[in-house]
Amino acid sequence: MSDTYVEDFVRNWGRLEYQASIFENSLPSHLIEVVSAAAIAELFTVVEARKTQTLGMYRFSDLSEFLPIWEAEESEHGRVLARLVNLDEAYSKTLISFSLFEKCRNWVVTKSLPIARYLPGMDFVLCATGVIAEQLTILLYNEIAKQVAIDEHRELFHALARQEGRHLRFYKAVCKDRVSRQNALSRTCSRVLMRLFWLPVGVDCLGESGWHKCFDPILMDQDLLLRLRASDDLLDEFAPTAGLHLMNRFLDQRHS
Ligand SMILES: [Fe+2]
Ligand SMILES: [Fe+2]
Repeated sequence: MSDTYVEDFVRNWGRLEYQASIFENSLPSHLIEVVSAAAIAELFTVVEARKTQTLGMYRFSDLSEFLPIWEAEESEHGRVLARLVNLDEAYSKTLISFSLFEKCRNWVVTKSLPIARYLPGMDFVLCATGVIAEQLTILLYNEIAKQVAIDEHRELFHALARQEGRHLRFYKAVCKDRVSRQNALSRTCSRVLMRLFWLPVGVDCLGESGWHKCFDPILMDQDLLLRLRASDDLLDEFAPTAGLHLMNRFLDQRHS
């Protein structure tokens, strides 16, 4: 384990710190839906983790150190958030909305994973997707922290954002590492895959209209929306994703 970014990550992982009393108080009612959606997306990490296994990501030594910890931390986020909003299965289903096209696409993507593992640059694709996903959750949790009424809740959402920040730094470091070693084929393959298949975190488990239903209300805040759009800048520094403007494309589709 010689990579500094791996050592930094492994040395600092751990449980979320929060008081048990956070569950005694409810969140403001206008945050219940967005936090429920975040809980569903965090709990979906278990499914995402299985996909990373099918994609063979454990053959990379840095990712094999990171992924089990990432899965544990994201799952804990999901568990805590679900408990905070008393998320039940029936309510979860009302937040999820897949079109027939999305169901077909998800089926095709899932069935393609065992083959996709042989595509060059898949590890870059995973980590570039992770960069934007983590940035979205950082912005979301920091925004929610501003809107809660109780200090313990505020501290919880800040703690969540800090852990997402550690995940983001790791993903960025892997992207940087891979770009320094990618050949033209791998670069092109990564770019095409990102352009064709990238979706924001949460769309996989909520569906696109479910995602908008849950997250659009909080994105009415123009400052937050601008910062979310600016998350594309994080991928501009990497040749395979420079100029793709993935988040902006996704958000603009809704309003075109
Ligand atoms: Fe998380
Ligand atoms: Fe994360």
